[in-house]
Formats: sequence, structure tokens, C-alpha cells
Amino acid sequence: MSRIAYVAGRYVPHRQAAVHIEDRGYQFADGVYEVISVVGGHLVDEEPHLARLHRSLAELRIPLPMEDAALKIVIREVVRRNGVDTGIVYLQVTRGVAPREHAFPKAAKPALVVTSRRSRAPDPRLGRDGIAVITIPDIRWQRCDIKSVALVANVLGKQQAREAGAYEAWQIDRDGKVTEGTSTNAWIVTHDDIVVTRAPDTAILSGVTRLAIFDIIRREGYRLDERMFSVAEAKAAREAFLTSTTADLLPVVRIDGAPVGEGTPGPLSQKLRAAYFAHAASPA
Ligand code: PDD
Repeated sequence: MSRIAYVAGRYVPHRQAAVHIEDRGYQFADGVYEVISVVGGHLVDEEPHLARLHRSLAELRIPLPMEDAALKIVIREVVRRNGVDTGIVYLQVTRGVAPREHAFPKAAKPALVVTSRRSRAPDPRLGRDGIAVITIPDIRWQRCDIKSVALVANVLGKQQAREAGAYEAWQIDRDGKVTEGTSTNAWIVTHDDIVVTRAPDTAILSGVTRLAIFDIIRREGYRLDERMFSVAEAKAAREAFLTSTTADLLPVVRIDGAPVGEGTPGPLSQKLRAAYFAHAASPA
């Protein structure tokens, strides 16, 4: 089945799908995006993803490209036309096409792109064996709460992780506290079995997976503390893990080469991972 993308109001073959060279996403990274999982044909946590899309657009003062009811139809149509049973949907909205000028154009229409592809899950060995992270200075802007397509700092960080043989880079703020990974949220489990992750300030993206894990923690009666933690605390923690739409929940077993806990996936991380899979697999 050949891939189909939704671009400029039309469903077109993926290979021919194109945006104008003066799209402000291309010239200024003036746009936002969402990645939504598809599991067994249904969209995982579609509502919180669309709510976050609304928020990101509002923060950048980009109008909605279409109402949610229409957007949901487009998303489903792209999933259907690509025959995606398990995979992801990518949505991107930019401020539109206009002659290059920093200030907002008077007459640009927001440009929506929707794509979908099969297979979202990382290699199952990563879940079984756990992954390594490195730590790097957080060099990003001060509005990481907006899911902006301006990701070059994240790209550099992820590449640095790859070159160091690690899955992810945890970014560190000026106070030595972990903000988040380059495309994932960061978590630790203390020796008192308290699950810790940073509160949603402007230094992190409030992950939809993160919110789903909160619900699981509450439901299962685990303890949660939304607070900052340092690299030293993470290295000394009992367990660590990361979350995102595409990574699900992956246990972190090494930070900067040093083992976390026993150096193997911790029991609480594994329980939360299993509970998250059950959540993702159940139609909303
Ligand atoms: N990334 N933090 C950052 C910087 C992210 O880019 C992401 C998601 C997350 C986790 O958010 P969520 O749980 O809603 O996926 C946290 C997506 C998957 C991406 O860029 O591909």
C-alpha cells in the first residue's frame, strides 16, 4: 500500500507531498506538532494530544487550521488510507506561507500536514534490557512547554547520545537539575519507592504519556512527587525511566556510564511499563 499524506487540504501520495519554500515552518520553525500513537487501530490519548495542540497554537497565536471535529476526520482518514493498525500519526501546523518577514504575516492561512506510518514501538529488547542515557547542558529556549517544531537543540542532543552509544540525552538546567530528554520525559524512583518527575514548568513539555503514567500511579496507589531532581540524585536513585508517545516507557539502566540501581530494569518501572501498554491497548 503506497503512503498518503494530507497537505494543503488534499490527500496526496507521500512521495509527492510538498509544502511551499516560504512556509514559515521551513523558514522560521514557526509551527507546532503532535505525535499520536495508533494501537490496534485506535488513537491513544487523542483528546489530550489535541488539547495540547490547541495550547501550543494559542501560545504562538496561530489560528486553528480547522475545528476538532474536522481534524479528527482527517486524522482517521490518513490512518485508514495508510492501512495503519499500529503506528503513529504526525500532525504539524505552521503559521502558513508568506513572503519572508519575521513579524506575523497579515494574510497567511495556517498550514496543516498530517502523516501516518506503521510501527511505532522501539525494539522490544530496549524494554527488556533497559537503555543508557547521557547528560548534556540544556541549551534550548525558555518555552519548552510549547510543542514547537524548532527542535535543532533536541536534534543535536539526540545525535550526541547516539554517538555516545546511548538512547537518549537528559538535558540539565543551569541549577544542575534534569529538565527532560530530547524527545522524552525523565523520571526516577527513590529508595522510598516514590516516583519523581519534574513539575510542568516552561522548561519541559508536559508529555501526554507522562499524564497517562500519573493516572496509573494514582490508580495503583504508588506515590508521586512532581519536583525537580539533580543528576546526582538520578545517578543514586533506585530506578529511572523515560516516557514518550514513541518510546512508551523505557527503563534507564545507565546514566553517563554509571549503573542505576542494579543496572537492570527496576520492578516499579516494569510494572508501570506493563500498565501503560494495557492503557494504550484499550480503546478510549
Ligand atoms: N516527543 N519532551 C519532549 C521534548 C518531547 O519531544 C516529547 C515527545 C516528550 C514526551 O511527550 P509525549 O509523551 O506527549 O509523547 C517530552 C515526540 C514523541 C517526538 O518529538 O517525536
